[in-house]
Amino acid sequence: MTSTRRDFVRTAVTASGAIGTALLSREALAQELESAPQPKVPRAQESLRLLILGGTGFTGPFQIEYALARGHEVTIFNRGRTQPTVNQELLSRVTQLVGDRDNDITALQGGSWDAVIDNSSSIPRWTRQTAELTKDTAHTYLFTSSLSVHSDNSKIGINEDDPVAELEDPTVEEITGATYGGLKALCEEETRKAFPNGAIIVRPGLIVGPGDRSDRWTYWPVRIARGGEVMAPGTPDDPTQHIDARDLAEFQIHLIEQRKLGTYSAVGPLSQLTMAELLYGIRAVTSNLEISFTWVDADFLAEHEVRAWSEMTSWVPPRGEMAGFSSFDNSRGVAAGLRFRPLAVTAKDTLDWWQTLPAERTASPRAGLDPEKEKRVLAAWHERNG
Ligand SMILES: NC(=O)c1ccc[n+]([C@@H]2O[C@H](COP(=O)([O-])OP(=O)(O)OC[C@H]3O[C@@H](n4cnc5c(N)ncnc54)[C@H](OP(=O)(O)O)[C@@H]3O)[C@@H](O)[C@H]2O)c1
Repeated sequence: MTSTRRDFVRTAVTASGAIGTALLSREALAQELESAPQPKVPRAQESLRLLILGGTGFTGPFQIEYALARGHEVTIFNRGRTQPTVNQELLSRVTQLVGDRDNDITALQGGSWDAVIDNSSSIPRWTRQTAELTKDTAHTYLFTSSLSVHSDNSKIGINEDDPVAELEDPTVEEITGATYGGLKALCEEETRKAFPNGAIIVRPGLIVGPGDRSDRWTYWPVRIARGGEVMAPGTPDDPTQHIDARDLAEFQIHLIEQRKLGTYSAVGPLSQLTMAELLYGIRAVTSNLEISFTWVDADFLAEHEVRAWSEMTSWVPPRGEMAGFSSFDNSRGVAAGLRFRPLAVTAKDTLDWWQTLPAERTASPRAGLDPEKEKRVLAAWHERNG
């Protein structure tokens, strides 16, 4: 034990009134460690006036948290419909402007900010309008794009310079699976056009963690915490990638503070993670029940209409056109300051957050495999394999 740690434990013992006992009970020590002051986020050298287009969905509340901790002033712009399920209390510390990017951005007129974070657009017209409106006062415009911009997911190690999708009709505004990537790529172009010396494009992979409204990655901690026989997709060695919304938020603010212009894939973890590592890693911090994982191959899943990504979340079979979908190269982001929380932290916090949601919300998850379907397909798998 280092002397600092020894001192801390001694202090904890003293604080708990356990002087004179050689050992503090494990529960008491855990309590003391939990209530110990957390390390503070150091303040940035310069306080910035930040405008977040969005701010109340998933990443926004963490951008607000980190930006305030760094000493920045924050304004958010949205329709006032979405209520965050984390960090609500921070909304009283930001300026809130109300409008609709589709037809009413008057609340932004006359405003002045140092930097803009555009979370809420997947429509080029929306980004063009807000980038035009802010370009004379702001020095930086960060557009939250997506790794879905890439037109070819077959290569292992796709990086920021690989080609992006092009839409046949670039005036289309309907967001579908077929148009989303191309639309995001056009939003990126609008950003670069309006801010030739101040554009930052961040392309996240699957964003995960507390506050996620999609319930995709959340499926795994919630399912594993229930124990029993868990259906696991494909092979234990299939790759998987994701990014914790808090790591994404901190990276985005960091890029703005450092004015690290350019385009960044934002996905983790640092090195390749397999599905087995993901599921066993989640198990280690979420469940002490009896549990087993049954790996069901991709073809069998397809035959039984179990969908990759939306039902077997955070996974697609790594072959053919999708061979590289879970193996993006993140080295440029990492060199620019992208950091990753341990999987255990993301998994535990996600489950803890899920358990704070109302029962009517958690009763009908928006993604993941229905328990009855899981049982049915597992039974068919065992029958086939004798
Ligand atoms: N989730 C993923 O796995 C993933 C992966 C890759 C990329 N992305 C991208 O990440 C970005 C960040 O999303 P987020 O939810 O984390 O951001 P966020 O800023 O936390 O939430 C989205 C915000 O947009 C506002 N909004 C929606 N429609 C609007 C409109 N018409 N006018 C004005 N404001 C509007 C919402 O509030 P109101 O509803 O109150 O207006 C909400 O505040 C998105 O662009 C998404 O495409 C997501």
